Amino acid sequence: MQLHQSTWAEIDDYLKQSKGIIVPIGSTEQHGPNGLLGTDALCPEIIAKHAGDASGILVGPTFNVGIAQHHMGFSGTITLRPSTMIAAMYDWVASLRKHGFEHIYWFNGHGGNTATINAAFAEIYAEGSLDTQGTNSPPLKLQLRNWWELSGIIKLCEKMYPEGHGSHATPSEVAVTYYGYPDAVKDVEMSPKIAPNGPIHDAADYRRRFPDGRIGSNPAQANGEDGKIIVEACSKGLIEDFGKFVAG
Ligand code: NI
Repeated sequence: MQLHQSTWAEIDDYLKQSKGIIVPIGSTEQHGPNGLLGTDALCPEIIAKHAGDASGILVGPTFNVGIAQHHMGFSGTITLRPSTMIAAMYDWVASLRKHGFEHIYWFNGHGGNTATINAAFAEIYAEGSLDTQGTNSPPLKLQLRNWWELSGIIKLCEKMYPEGHGSHATPSEVAVTYYGYPDAVKDVEMSPKIAPNGPIHDAADYRRRFPDGRIGSNPAQANGEDGKIIVEACSKGLIEDFGKFVAG
C-alpha cells in the first residue's frame, strides 16, 4: 500500500489496524558512469514498493535527497546540510505522529545518511525525554535499516559479484535500479574495469581520487535479472524485519 496512491480515508482505515509505516530514504547523487543519479533513493523505494504490494504494509513517500556534499563535484548531485535534513525529518515524523503513527521505519539506501538519521532520531526522542511536564503523546518508535543489511543480502551480493562489488556505484545497487527502470539501463565501458579504493574527504578531493565517481566497483556487471533476485530477497527480509519492529 502506497501513501501517495491512497486517499485520506484509506489512511484513516489503515490506522485502525496498524500504526506502522515504512519511509524509504536515500540520496540524489552521482553513481559512476552507468549508475542513475537517483540510485540511493530508488533502491529502497523499489524494494519497499515490492514489499508494500506483497504485504499491505503502508509505504510513505521517499525522502529522496540526503547527505551528498562529497559528490558535489559531479553534475546533478543535490545535497542537504545535516541540520536541514534533521529539521525536515523532524517535521515528517511530527506530521505522521499527529495522525497516530507510532512505528516509523526509515528504510535507507545511502550509507552517508546514517549519522544524520541517527542524529535526527536523537532530536526527536529528546523532545519527550527532556519534557519535565510529561506527555500525553502515544509512544513513538523509530528504526533505521539500510537495505543491504537485511538478512542474507550482503552474502547474496558478494556471491553474485565476487569481484568488483566495491563500496560506491556497486553492481548490486545499479542492478536494483535496472530492474525497476529497464528503460534507463546504460551500456558503458568501464576504464579501469575495477575502480580504485580510498578515503573520502570533500567534493574536490573525491573527484580527484575517483574521477568517474566509482569506488572499488565494476558496475558494468549489473543487470535487471540480478536486480530482480536482489529485490525479491530484500522484500521478503523487509516484511520480516518490519514485522519484528512493530511487534517490539
Ligand atoms: Ni549508492
